[in-house]
Amino acid sequence: MCGIVALIGSREAAPQLLEGLRQLEYRGYDSAGIATIDAAGLHCLRAEGKLVNLTVRFEAQGAPGHCGIGHTRWATHGKPEERNAHPHLDGSGELAVVQNGIIENHRSLREELQATGVMFRSDTDTEVIPHLLARQLQLLQQGGRVASGSLLLQAVQEVLPLLQGAYALAVVWAQAPGALVVARRAAPLLIGLGEGEFLCASDTPALAGFTRTILPMEDGEVALLTPLGIELYDAAGERVQRTPSLLSGTEHVADKRSFRHFMLKEIHEQPETAALWVARHLPELGNQAGSQAGGSAPSSPMVALPLDDALFEGVERIQLLACGTSRHAAQVGAYLLEQLAGIPTDVFYASEFRYAPPPLGPHTLTIGVTQSGETADTLAALAMEQARRRLVADPAYAPRLLGITNRPESSLGRLVDQVLDIGAGIEVGVAATKTFLGQLLAFYGLALAFAERRGGSVNGRGPEQLRALVAQLRSLPGLLRQLVDDHDQRCEALAHRFAETQDVIFLGRGINYPIALEGALKLKEISYIHAEGYPAGEMKHGPIALLDAQVPVVSIAVPGTVFEKVLSNAQEAKARDAQLIGVAPEGPDTDIFDVLLPVPAVDELLSPLLTVIPMQLLSYHIAAHRGLDVDQPRNLAKSVTVE
Ligand code: M6R
Repeated sequence: MCGIVALIGSREAAPQLLEGLRQLEYRGYDSAGIATIDAAGLHCLRAEGKLVNLTVRFEAQGAPGHCGIGHTRWATHGKPEERNAHPHLDGSGELAVVQNGIIENHRSLREELQATGVMFRSDTDTEVIPHLLARQLQLLQQGGRVASGSLLLQAVQEVLPLLQGAYALAVVWAQAPGALVVARRAAPLLIGLGEGEFLCASDTPALAGFTRTILPMEDGEVALLTPLGIELYDAAGERVQRTPSLLSGTEHVADKRSFRHFMLKEIHEQPETAALWVARHLPELGNQAGSQAGGSAPSSPMVALPLDDALFEGVERIQLLACGTSRHAAQVGAYLLEQLAGIPTDVFYASEFRYAPPPLGPHTLTIGVTQSGETADTLAALAMEQARRRLVADPAYAPRLLGITNRPESSLGRLVDQVLDIGAGIEVGVAATKTFLGQLLAFYGLALAFAERRGGSVNGRGPEQLRALVAQLRSLPGLLRQLVDDHDQRCEALAHRFAETQDVIFLGRGINYPIALEGALKLKEISYIHAEGYPAGEMKHGPIALLDAQVPVVSIAVPGTVFEKVLSNAQEAKARDAQLIGVAPEGPDTDIFDVLLPVPAVDELLSPLLTVIPMQLLSYHIAAHRGLDVDQPRNLAKSVTVE
């Protein structure tokens, strides 16, 4: 978590650092700070709370210099107070460090430093770094070395092996005002290359308007940046030469347009997300004329995914690793992969998988699902799976890793063999919306591709039925457009009813059970109302005791395998006086609901793509109605880069 920026060049650093932090505020927003260097020394400003507090402080006090570092924090060690805000300084106040990650052995390092008389001013794990660097620099200078950027680089290279954990950091030192040193291990950091200036950041939005040319740093790398150039070194201290890459499209531009919140804008962007996906991955109908029923895969596939054939060959089992909303997408994905393609599929909390993995099986495809591509739990679980499979000599057990992400250039992209880019464009709201839809679409593509390659499908769905599904998928952008516009107004009108609500139950079954979980998660994270998602049939086994007239029940009921069952479960809730909100097609069956949020009747298998829309809009409007900070809810951050 947390966002870091660092700049060196010829312009005043502070305004650019603040702008970079503004773009990274989604990563954490409980305090922020900058440190700049000029001939007079080091200038450090920090403020508790949102970035605006730091900006006010900067406007009053200034922070001159052409080189500097900045940080926006999501607290891990130490409360969100100014003294725990970054940058952290050494005892002399000449050296400043910002860090994103966790230094796991900070306690022992702190004790060791304290035993030598070092005074700590914060409760953070990060503060050990400036003190360790100051000690190292002192040793090097006592040995006759003169202060310089190279000396700072050497000190960083010598201190990093002492640190355990995952981190990205940036360091400035008043005695070397023309130098900036940055490093990363298992946390993201990229260098943006401008004209005689460099801007480093945790994520691409911070580079908007600065440059499109980037050099993502690899694990273990350290770089010395001066206005003259970059010296990049690997973990062994060897000089590395790498060609920069170019950011494509508008993916790194974050703009709210005329919407009140990013979340609302991103909900409204979903028809576009779907249209892009359809255009990219569902070839024109005419191209499918040659499709064969049964047997081998048709020459013109129904679904075109940019994945190697080898990924699909001989897969006997799939395991999906993800967190939060991405895990809900994975649950829908598992349903599709099992029911459409007949492949046994397990979904794991990435944070649990790493410490209790299932026994290894042969011919297993492991898919990491993460919109940011930086979620530490997911990356660690994937890395563990890769490592344990590499130890097995039998090629049937070889790691086969796929990533589903919105950020192919992320750490995930560098870890897995292949990436399915959901191409949803940058998502700023902490609550995932359009990236969830993008992940769902990726799973539809994957399940259809597997089913098609296996000569049809299971559960009575043959090639004709698969083609019918694809045809319905083509109409998705239009359906979504209507649904979003319609429910935006309906949910806004409904939101006031939740002014005093303390608990909400979301019910779904089958492929819509994960959508009930997602509805509950959305509501919890942005409105702070307690919510639970349940498979509707489970209610009677305990949770029904929670129901009374004060507890609204949102029930997803779409025609298909469990329609009547879900309606019965809704009746059971109604009999306990619960207010019933239905997400269902209009019709005589659904008049049991007190309020209906109607969705078009499509094939049940496709319904999650639609039923999720009222969930998102209901949560959004309830939170907005309560006057809450929808885009930056308390205690959260967009990408969770700590385990
Ligand atoms: O970047 P990821 O998709 O890996 O993030 C996983 C979760 O942290 C994320 O989905 C979180 O649950 C969202 N805030 C949900 O809206």
